[in-house]
Amino acid sequence: MKIKFIGHSCFLIEEGKYSLLFDPFITGNPIAAVKASEVNPTHVLVTHYHGDHKGDALDIAKRTGAVIYSTNEIGVEFKKSHDNVVAGHIGGKAKTDFGSVKFFQAFHGSGIEGGHACGFVVDLMGKKVYHAGDTGLTKDMELLERENIHVALLPIGDFYTMGPEDALEAVKMIKPKYVIPMHYNTFPLLNQDPEAFKQAVEKETRSKVTILKPGESVDL
Ligand code: NI
Ligand code: MN
Repeated sequence: MKIKFIGHSCFLIEEGKYSLLFDPFITGNPIAAVKASEVNPTHVLVTHYHGDHKGDALDIAKRTGAVIYSTNEIGVEFKKSHDNVVAGHIGGKAKTDFGSVKFFQAFHGSGIEGGHACGFVVDLMGKKVYHAGDTGLTKDMELLERENIHVALLPIGDFYTMGPEDALEAVKMIKPKYVIPMHYNTFPLLNQDPEAFKQAVEKETRSKVTILKPGESVDL
């Protein structure tokens, strides 16, 4: 699968005819590598309703006809202006043409009354991607080991989410093959050294860390 980092927590992951866009905070994102009008996903996945995750989700989905995945209360909000919404909930899994989308708990505000933030475990043609969304470190991440995660996208920015030390502990629990850090260096408050994170993870675990600058892609 081809994984493109657009910036912050926004990734475009492509496999065959499918292109999955995660947390499309593009407009107003100081490090975004593309314009919202330049991405043409088949699926848009939104971990929660904070502006730096919901971002351009609705505009992009309306323009492309992409289906939006999110948790229930957030999905209800999207449904007010977009018909193609799959609103599952924590612990549940939605079957899709490419595999499945599972809603995993994230310990974070949802940004909407009564709602829940989530992470996603996506089975994309047999390879599993975990996009953690915004979350603190939780012991629940041990549950992800049994998912055989191929690539884990983990926040390391600290302050609002896990920082690098806690993200290292998350890697030890999840045991993914690859890790890509996210949610750092977007704003001064989130400044982190991804190289130091990579060194720590690769010293203490068997996972490999791929650092992507906004606009860069990797095939994993
Ligand atoms: Ni947030
Ligand atoms: Mn955030």
